[in-house]
Amino acid sequence: TGSTMCKAYFSKKALEASEVVDIDWDGLGFGLVQTDFMYIMQSSSDGTFNKGELLPFGPIQLNPSAAVLNYGQGLFEGLKAYRKEDGSILLFRPEENALRMIAGAERICMPAPTVEQFVDAVKQTVLANKRWIPPTGKGSLYIRPLLVGSGPVLSLVPASEYIFMIYVSPVGNYFKEGLAPINLIVEKEFHRATPGGTGGIKTIGNYASVLKAQKVAKEKGYSDVLYLDSVHKKYLEEVSSCNVFVVKDNVISTPAAKGTILPGITRKSIIDVARSKGYQVEERLVSVEELLDADEVFCSGTAVVISPVGSITYLGKRIDYGNKGVGVVSQELYSSLTSLQMGLVQDTMGWTVQ
Ligand code: COI
Repeated sequence: TGSTMCKAYFSKKALEASEVVDIDWDGLGFGLVQTDFMYIMQSSSDGTFNKGELLPFGPIQLNPSAAVLNYGQGLFEGLKAYRKEDGSILLFRPEENALRMIAGAERICMPAPTVEQFVDAVKQTVLANKRWIPPTGKGSLYIRPLLVGSGPVLSLVPASEYIFMIYVSPVGNYFKEGLAPINLIVEKEFHRATPGGTGGIKTIGNYASVLKAQKVAKEKGYSDVLYLDSVHKKYLEEVSSCNVFVVKDNVISTPAAKGTILPGITRKSIIDVARSKGYQVEERLVSVEELLDADEVFCSGTAVVISPVGSITYLGKRIDYGNKGVGVVSQELYSSLTSLQMGLVQDTMGWTVQ
């Protein structure tokens, strides 16, 4: 079974971690830095998850016929831990990630850890890897929970066994532009999701399917692509790795998360923060034509946080925003959200978890 294989495989060698890591905190981008520990919890035969454990970070063994390898039965999550100036550690809305994993698991017929199990596992993994959390202001510890069908299959059926695991990595800015505005191109040929499909859950296949268009866009010098809906081919959906917001006359609009759009936790938090600041926020169909006279456009996600968009190319025409700087609304929301996440201001929303 998955369980005996994993136990046999992992080294039992105790890790004698010093408190200090040899890392250039100023040079962090968004790439994997391997840390000390990962968390693993396997499902029992009745589909529930029992006791997980921390193990030294390293490869895991999977049956070649595991459902995740053959049919993509897998989900992932992403959240971050921040180090406060007083040394304490903050998580941002971890229970929201747990709930999204539960919803995704239901869609692709997997059992999922409970909210309590998920949050407890996240806390254990972060604390075990505490020395890898960047100093305040230098980045964050990105937390990557995974839920995969590990049981062997050949015909197309749900796996009989599942592994829930978490690894972490210190990260800085997602885009190589840092906080400078990114340049997007509207994708006309490929689509990310279709109604009735899995665009609204964080299943691993959604991310493999966007690599091709992203690669072509990067070769042409763009940071990423902006997808349109697959039915009318005229409404904004999202960028490969993040949600999108359009600002016009101080009204902030974003595509409604109705099945084809990933219900981002940063997206949802921005909507609430913006409303609390008196902005009108609309979740609706946002036509690609609205890009033509928008005041600002920005992307949101756990990895990208808030990333201002400097230009969007659509049908060969480039639309520039913000005079090469960060738009006022994007900047205001970025500052409000990140000060909350980093514990620089009092958390009146009740979103951070020690
Ligand atoms: C995140 O923002 O956490 C994501 O999961 C996107 C991923 C492509 C890095």
